[in-house]
Amino acid sequence: MSDDSPAEHEQPNPIVSDDDGDGFDLDDHASTSSLDSTTMKYREIHGRTFQSYSDANYWRPNDDKQNDVLDMGYHMMRLLHNDKLFFAPLHNPQRVLDVGTGTGIWAMDFADEFPSASVIGIDLSPIQPHWVPPNASFQVMDASESWTFGENTFDYIHPFFSYGAIADWPSLFRKAFNHLKPGGWIEHADFSAEIEWERSCLPTDNILSLGNKFFRDAGRITGKTSHPIENQQNATWMKDVGFIKVHVKEYDVLIGQWPTNERLKEVGVWNLEICKMGMEGYGLQLGTQILGHTFEEIQVMCAEARETLKKPLFHTFYRGSTAYAQKPAGRLTDAPRTQPAPDGEA
Ligand SMILES: C[S@@+](CC[C@H](N)C(=O)[O-])C[C@H]1O[C@@H](n2cnc3c(N)ncnc32)[C@H](O)[C@@H]1O
Repeated sequence: MSDDSPAEHEQPNPIVSDDDGDGFDLDDHASTSSLDSTTMKYREIHGRTFQSYSDANYWRPNDDKQNDVLDMGYHMMRLLHNDKLFFAPLHNPQRVLDVGTGTGIWAMDFADEFPSASVIGIDLSPIQPHWVPPNASFQVMDASESWTFGENTFDYIHPFFSYGAIADWPSLFRKAFNHLKPGGWIEHADFSAEIEWERSCLPTDNILSLGNKFFRDAGRITGKTSHPIENQQNATWMKDVGFIKVHVKEYDVLIGQWPTNERLKEVGVWNLEICKMGMEGYGLQLGTQILGHTFEEIQVMCAEARETLKKPLFHTFYRGSTAYAQKPAGRLTDAPRTQPAPDGEA
């Protein structure tokens, strides 16, 4: 879709019902009802479209331009991680949930790699393709609301790349804990919204510093941090809700052609394109709706940031981190009480 086409979309892939009698019937869930017109009529800001399913007010556009950026980011990460789809030590996963699935590209590749698994991707935006592997399906759902899936259901839950989207991360991880089977794994990967540089020949008020402040300020105002991986905060939240065997893998995601290692140079080249292409989308909603900038100011800031990132001299990069952890094997999630507890019972 071009940026100026009507902000309305056709019904995406139909919701798939699993009627094989294994207790995993997706039609049980309210969230599988067909998409209403509000969900399909995206909000528009200066010609870019944004989700309208919930009042989550998610900050990234959901149009083709930004979705291409997501897919490019996916390929860049496969390149960075030597083609690995995940790090958790999974054994024959059968029920998999991808939270904030985006274009669904990870979920589909995972479904292809594990043909006996059922993979569900959930997202605020119905931006996934119509034709998907038979064992992958997608639902429009707000992950911050209560989940309609059964507890103790999934072998693996994968919330990937959600900075700036979540107001209550501990609650998200607690939900993931409850909906995992005992022994199941969670894996959260994210990037830092902060661009850094190795060579300090940039003035302190350079455009990248301003961009970093932009995301800090926006996170403070919206209450949705853009830094869930800072100080391994995501790993701490996982431990706090009861996960064990918490592992953290940290890495730098280099921008541009400056790395000497050939693979990292290729990552850097992809990343520079991603930053250049994605930048307007990153700045638009937060800039004009949250931080009070004009559209023109955002354009000027983006142009300056693109020029700075293009210069290999500064050795720019941002940090990434993947944390994975296990729900203890003996811990079934308690079914929620339907009756109030008798007096005196804990
Ligand atoms: C940066 S994209 C990442 C997409 C995908 N995981 C990837 O790595 O390519 C974040 C996605 O999370 C979705 N999202 C944001 N808030 C959400 C919420 N509360 N519930 C469900 N999805 C959400 C957005 O619509 C977007 O598609």
